[in-house]
Amino acid sequence: FVISKLTAKPERKLAKQLCKVVLDHFDTQYSRELGDAWSAARDILISPSCWQHAVLLNRFNYPFELEKDLHFKGYHTLFQGSLPYYPKSMKCYLSRIPHRIPSERHQIGNLKKYYLLNAASLLPVLALELRDGEKVLDLCAAPGGKSIALLQCACPGYLHCNEYDSLRLRWLRQTLESFIPEPLENVIKVSELDGREMGDAQPEKFDKVLVDAPCSNDRSWLFSSDSQKAACRISQRRKLPVLQIELLRSAIKALRPGGLLVYSTCTLSKAENQDVISEILNSCSNIMPVNIEEMARTCSQDFAFAPTGQECGLLVIPEKGKVWGPMYVAKLKKSWTV
Ligand SMILES: C[S@@+](CC[C@H](N)C(=O)[O-])C[C@H]1O[C@@H](n2cnc3c(N)ncnc32)[C@H](O)[C@@H]1O
Repeated sequence: FVISKLTAKPERKLAKQLCKVVLDHFDTQYSRELGDAWSAARDILISPSCWQHAVLLNRFNYPFELEKDLHFKGYHTLFQGSLPYYPKSMKCYLSRIPHRIPSERHQIGNLKKYYLLNAASLLPVLALELRDGEKVLDLCAAPGGKSIALLQCACPGYLHCNEYDSLRLRWLRQTLESFIPEPLENVIKVSELDGREMGDAQPEKFDKVLVDAPCSNDRSWLFSSDSQKAACRISQRRKLPVLQIELLRSAIKALRPGGLLVYSTCTLSKAENQDVISEILNSCSNIMPVNIEEMARTCSQDFAFAPTGQECGLLVIPEKGKVWGPMYVAKLKKSWTV
């Protein structure tokens, strides 16, 4: 199944191996769903040497020297304040030319200064429009990138980070410990529930809920080193929308009337994106779509978008010069009355 060897992050000197069974499967599905946009995305996704990381600065241990250095190296800030909701406290830098910053080591007692991420991961966080004092649930939270980003935007009254997988839960705890000062830890709760049970456990408790769902993670699936595991994932893939819909139904229960819900995935798959949201809109009478097309317009200098046929859903698709994504984001609101 291995058809080519590509050099991964230079600092780690790992060889990433492209998995042909996954690539063939994606070729069939995505050329049908996305047309020409797929061939541009494909070129990026199969070439890890083109992949980039954005640098999210930690406001709790602000790296002034690094910020100067990033300016010097030609990095610019993401969105540049053009979005209707864009908290000044969130600073994320990215470069138009490929450049790599090493990730920081975890050291007990030391807060990290920055977090490396796919810049498109910030779209679901910003779509949530978190304000100081709000109660927010991150239903599928590990390894914690979006929880960290949420805390760069505002100081919630309560942040509940949930993760079902116990190994990944440890990773989540470590991320929170590395980025958040102790006094803020008092407003954060970490739990290990099946997200599908959260709605019954905590009905109507939250102002905002983020469902960053388990999905076919296109970038990582393309480089599965175990081809048997990859084939198994593909055959199980059609079960993912059922889980995603159940997680969303639970999130809706956990949301207070009038609250906002954001759903995101890092796959291009229509079945896990638009179809999941259409099913929710068709079957839940208390849920309304929220138009986020303005968000796509204001950040088109950094991101490429593929049409979704939905006003409430955006699909970031990688292309040359705008390598971020895949990322699907949908924004929904719970109505005040059923
Ligand atoms: C896309 S990842 C989340 C990434 C995370 N939001 C971040 O930004 O770092 C999806 C997560 O959902 C978790 N998950 C899978 N099934 C779940 C369930 N039933 N309830 C809660 N979490 C689940 C997975 O273990 C995985 O860590």
